[in-house]
Amino acid sequence: MIPELAKASVLMRDRSRVEETIQAMQRAGPDALQVISDFDMTLSRFAHNGKRCPTTHNILDNDLLINDTCKKMIRELLNTYYPIEIDATRTVEEKLPHMVEWWTSVHELLIQQKIRRDLLAQAVKQSSAMLREGYKVFFDRLQEQQVPLLIFSAGLGDILEEVIRQNHVFHPNVHVISNYMDFDQSGVLRAFKGQLIHTFNKREGALLHAAHFRELKERPNVLLLGDSLGDLTMADGLAHTQHALTIGFLNDQVEERKESYVNSYDIVLVKDETMDVPNAILNYIT
Ligand code: C5P
Ligand code: MG
Repeated sequence: MIPELAKASVLMRDRSRVEETIQAMQRAGPDALQVISDFDMTLSRFAHNGKRCPTTHNILDNDLLINDTCKKMIRELLNTYYPIEIDATRTVEEKLPHMVEWWTSVHELLIQQKIRRDLLAQAVKQSSAMLREGYKVFFDRLQEQQVPLLIFSAGLGDILEEVIRQNHVFHPNVHVISNYMDFDQSGVLRAFKGQLIHTFNKREGALLHAAHFRELKERPNVLLLGDSLGDLTMADGLAHTQHALTIGFLNDQVEERKESYVNSYDIVLVKDETMDVPNAILNYIT
């Protein structure tokens, strides 16, 4: 049905259920579909030529914006908390307080650095951030078919928007829920807006943005893309789902996490830096 699903990097717990869901989504067509996607390490690349690509937070690791002491502290925080975020042996409940600590500490450091809004675009240009191969086909097709795309990110909204703008895919069908910076009148970072979103509280974020989902209630089919098990709660704001298909990118700690990903996501893509599978499914459905 979809040759891309036969690749060795594609794992499925229940192949026939996946095929039935895709067929049902195809019958309902593009008007019934919405797409909800995580950003960092899902739409953006995890690695390129063997080197890690930055998350939206890590794009700020630039002399333009922060000093060396702050860089060092942010890197230390990453080295402490990222292993906890992806640890297959801890429960989400155990991870929660650590995630809040990580995000809060980094956001406080960024505020102390008095980051300037007018330098963000340049920092994004200078970074090695990249969207996954095939991203343009993905964004352009959703725009052409007028399928709404919600990007739901625990990263930094201002940076995320700049990345997709610079890649020429910030189309009118794209809506973003993320952590946004609050600048003072002179354009200096003074706080973060709204309730903090981290990897494991996307469910609360989804419920807070229930109005967004209500507007899309006539679109009962959802394609969800993520790279963390926390991303599976991004669609919890939806009340009228008929068919849902979830695709998880398993980028890191593959052997340790394979089983839990296969049990949680309908389709798991192992170390796949492309949008080939989502694009093939969209091509079939729309
Ligand atoms: O867009 P997404 O929800 O994936 O963004 C969150 C990601 O950003 C997390 O998976 C985390 O590893 C990363 N992060 C980071 N630096 C921080 C906080 C989170 O790189 N200070
Ligand atoms: Mg992510």
